[in-house]
Amino acid sequence: MRRLTTLFTAVLLPACLFSLPAAAAQQHEGQYDIADIAYGAQLFSERCVVCHGPNGDLMPQANLRRGTFRNASTDRDLQGVIRDGVPGTAMAATGYAEAELAALVAYLRNITSFDGTGVTIGDAAAGKDLFEGEGGCTQCHRVGGSGPAYAPPLTSIGRTRTAAALRRVLQNPVSGMMPSNRPVHAVTADGRVVEGRRLNEDTFSVQLVSKDERLVSLDKRTLKEYRIGNESAMPAYGDRFSEQQIADLLGYLLSLKGAQP
Ligand code: HEC
Ligand code: HEC
Repeated sequence: MRRLTTLFTAVLLPACLFSLPAAAAQQHEGQYDIADIAYGAQLFSERCVVCHGPNGDLMPQANLRRGTFRNASTDRDLQGVIRDGVPGTAMAATGYAEAELAALVAYLRNITSFDGTGVTIGDAAAGKDLFEGEGGCTQCHRVGGSGPAYAPPLTSIGRTRTAAALRRVLQNPVSGMMPSNRPVHAVTADGRVVEGRRLNEDTFSVQLVSKDERLVSLDKRTLKEYRIGNESAMPAYGDRFSEQQIADLLGYLLSLKGAQP
């Protein structure tokens, strides 16, 4: 297992680069997902209201409801201000990760219209119970050091995936699947069938985790058959769970901010 973990770290890193999370994408006003806005509102109430007030307009020199900002114009700038703070002022660096920054920006861009209805971010503790119990998520996923390796580890998923992306995965895994995670079906020159989850791929080779949890690298030029599937091995929970249960699972996933496995 330890060896597998080391290999994972070696291979997952380029895989992550190759599929940078949607959080990095620049969006225009009006195109923010309600799950990100709701998550941003939650983070705002935890970490920002103490200075900016519940409506964001407590400080006249930094009124966050005006729609324009003194220190930022694009979403990228705004993320930078929230991450790094404004030097020489009480606005200190927050150290938030991509997914959290995307949520806070989505909220600030919609602060005057968001009324708290629509999607909610549920209770992380209730979500954890579902994750380990009725949801059966731990049959395929691990959080932290040990557990199954076939499905992607979720240890730090709350840093790398936005609330909107995680909600899509829960409702319909196919629509939220990362390109790197697609299922691979290959037949080697000597007739061996290899099936697994793709980690990384270039013109000549593909790296995957096989169904029996081994790390495999294949030379694509020598394969008899090679197919990338569109289906997901993950069940869709959108029909199986209530809105509240999905919200609780989302709350739990967003709370997973551990170091990379
Ligand atoms: C300790 C108090 C404090 C906390 C906590 C705080 N801020 Fe600030 N923030 C300030 C001050 C003071 C300024 C004004 C800095 C200046 O004079 O330019 C500011 C400025 C900003 C600005 C720039 C406004 C502009 O017009 O350019 C943004 C955006 C912002 N804060 C967002 C946040 C968010 C989001 C959080 C929570 C993660 C947060 N702040 C937490 C004190 C705080
Ligand atoms: C039968 C195995 C299986 C079960 C059960 C399962 N998953 Fe998955 N899950 C996968 C596989 C395989 C992937 C990667 C392919 C994909 O994204 O569809 C995945 C992907 C994900 C992702 C996206 C990871 C990423 O890096 O983008 C999340 C989040 C996730 N699962 C959460 C859950 C939660 C929460 C549950 C329980 C409610 C669950 N899964 C149950 C197999 C499973």
